[in-house]
Amino acid sequence: MPVNVLIIGSGGREHALAWKLKQSPLAGRIFAAPGSEGMKDCARPVPAGALEFDKIADFCAGSDIGLCVIGPEEPLAKGLADHLSAKGVKVFGPRRQAAMLEASKQLAKEFMKRNYIPTAGFQSFYDPRPAKEAVRANENWPLVVKADGLAAGKGVRICHDEASALAAIEDFMEKRVFGSSGARVVIEEFLSGREASVMALCDGKDFVMLPVARDHKRLLDGDEGPNTGGMGAVAPVDLDAETLENIRVNILGRFVEGLKKERIPYCGVIFAGLMLTKDGPKALEFNVRFGDPETQTVLPLIKSDLLGHMLACAESRLAGERAEFHDGACATVVMAAAGYPESPVTGAEIRGLDRVPADAEVFHAGTVSDGGRFKVSGGRVLGVSARGANLASALALAYKAVSAITFDGVQYRRDIGSTIREAEAK
Ligand code: AMP
Ligand code: GLY
Repeated sequence: MPVNVLIIGSGGREHALAWKLKQSPLAGRIFAAPGSEGMKDCARPVPAGALEFDKIADFCAGSDIGLCVIGPEEPLAKGLADHLSAKGVKVFGPRRQAAMLEASKQLAKEFMKRNYIPTAGFQSFYDPRPAKEAVRANENWPLVVKADGLAAGKGVRICHDEASALAAIEDFMEKRVFGSSGARVVIEEFLSGREASVMALCDGKDFVMLPVARDHKRLLDGDEGPNTGGMGAVAPVDLDAETLENIRVNILGRFVEGLKKERIPYCGVIFAGLMLTKDGPKALEFNVRFGDPETQTVLPLIKSDLLGHMLACAESRLAGERAEFHDGACATVVMAAAGYPESPVTGAEIRGLDRVPADAEVFHAGTVSDGGRFKVSGGRVLGVSARGANLASALALAYKAVSAITFDGVQYRRDIGSTIREAEAK
């Protein structure tokens, strides 16, 4: 029996999921709620927003959905997986309790500490006064100040001196620039090294680790400019066997052991943000969802059947699954709107999509269709991915496709895949 799939979300990550799942021999019809015109060739759009839980549940019941795959964190943190599971829908995406490991930095850090997952030393505070005292007593700079809750990637400040750390505490806890997300703060030791991202599929007992990726968070070449949602990614990252094993055992393995010990059910992706320090890999954070743009880079490298693996997760039988990966590498270049990330300019017409070579994939993120022509509708507009025998050829193919596409004010990095500078206090 073919399995009908509903994907929740409408970004580049969800387009890549639809593209991959459509290739599965198990796949029936693929839908996306709300989806987008740009991903229509892979998934039929459903008129339901990611937070319209009842509409989504009704659609699952009415369209014989055999698996619902949840992309973004917000519906996860608000309990969409709980809602659908209670109605008998199979879901790939963790429940609210587990989603709190992404939605609260303090809960995440305490979970890491209890479960011996290597991470930066930290203290958490519910009151600005002791937080400020801790800053005044601090001797090692820089220091990292984090708002506890979701803050659209803006709740982390690397502070070089007492004045900036005190200002961060004031902004988060007193001025509440991120609302209740700043009710608590975590003050953390600064780690230096190179960053990497690892995702694993997990059924709560076992996990399958996917190739390690590297996102490029800064807007401009040479890791300059403001932080963004991600301007491109490459995978696999060139790591030695010992480091890979360390990530598998001490980070992902201990995370899953912790879930089991603390009786937290989990079905979905574990996505760890890593700092590769001279003392080994350390976890900066855990997300409970696929990364964006890492998904657009990693899914093309999966040779085995992703839908089969996801169904195995939803049916708690991942231990019997064997994942296989393609040799070579994959690269994704993000094309962003003028003004991104502060104030993206929308409306520009996107030209050249029909000239993209067949050996590259274009994943739509911020586009709308206007009478058959695509226009810019969001900050990150397109993600262009290509796989090659090695990183250099993957990058050459991805950039060739990028050069076929144009729109007014387009911004993209020319140095995706080049070795990124070590984290330093900027
Ligand atoms: P997070 O949302 O916690 O992953 O933090 C966002 C970004 O801030 C990370 O990708 C790092 O670049 C940086 N960062 C977070 N925590 C630390 C830390 N302890 N040391 C150095 N950089 C950090
Ligand atoms: N690329 C980072 C994220 O998805 O959070």
